[in-house]
Amino acid sequence: MRGERQRVRGARGETGNVRRAVRIRSSFFVYSLPYSLTDAKQQVRVIRSHPYPEDTGGSQTRPNVKQYWTHAVHLAGLAPLALLAWDAFAGNLTVNPIQYLTQRTGYAAIMLLIASLVCTPLSVVSGWKRVLVLRRPLGLYGFLYAVLHMLIFTALDFGLNIPLIVQEVAEKRYILVGTTALLLLTPLALTSTKGWQRRLGRSWKLLHRLVYLAVPLALVHYAWAQKSDIRQPLFLGALVALLLILRLPAIRRRIEAWRRTSGSASAADGSERTPARGTPRSR
Ligand code: HEM
Repeated sequence: MRGERQRVRGARGETGNVRRAVRIRSSFFVYSLPYSLTDAKQQVRVIRSHPYPEDTGGSQTRPNVKQYWTHAVHLAGLAPLALLAWDAFAGNLTVNPIQYLTQRTGYAAIMLLIASLVCTPLSVVSGWKRVLVLRRPLGLYGFLYAVLHMLIFTALDFGLNIPLIVQEVAEKRYILVGTTALLLLTPLALTSTKGWQRRLGRSWKLLHRLVYLAVPLALVHYAWAQKSDIRQPLFLGALVALLLILRLPAIRRRIEAWRRTSGSASAADGSERTPARGTPRSR
């Protein structure tokens, strides 16, 4: 009984600490200016002892900065849908609206998937850790457009007529490649939550490496679907190849070492930027 009471009191104490930290955190930027330097330092110590649990696995981000980037990603993710809605409203869906919708959603899917692949190499090269929180929403928006793209093709274009779809796929093999890419992305989208990340542990990382196969396959599908000009898929293919090369552990280690040495050189110049603390190696 006594032990139980102590446990409850302890839990309350912890909750109280967290509440206090949150209060201090939100009031810090507003009220800390007139404080003495000692007070400000003490508050910083409290904030550091309660890091934000983030995608970056514990790196700290001020909420307003994180929200700013999250809003930007939602804007980028929803923009293609908003543009399509506008085109539909303005009657700009061309003479072949279904083909137009298929192409636009496919294009949005591939661009967002590539954008999510850019985040890790960008963070490795620039040391900008906060960009890592954008990977998941960008990837999920990419998946959303790929699903829309597939639904437009199967439901709008072919009215879910399975024999007709099978016949079309037999004629246009690039659809099979696109379907494989989508199937590979599906478990990644379904397990993208923190809960699944915890549950799967090390296997989560391995599973999510499927994206390195899915995106190149989607690019093959894109290039194959083009009737003539394949310059753009070729360019995107080269970009994805570069992004994948930058993730190779040996290359990555070299870049990080180069960044550290150039960082300490600029620190000697007095121009070093404060690095984000506690950020683990990302996927
Ligand atoms: C990750 C999955 C996929 C991605 C990223 C993707 C992306 C693309 C892209 C970029 C194009 C070319 C758009 C353009 O011409 O500008 C395209 C074309 C096409 N995709 Fe996909 N696709 C995916 C999966 C699928 C699936 C699952 C299907 C059908 C079951 C499909 C059916 C088509 C068709 C029919 C076209 C040709 C549209 C046309 O020009 O008439 N795609 N796709």
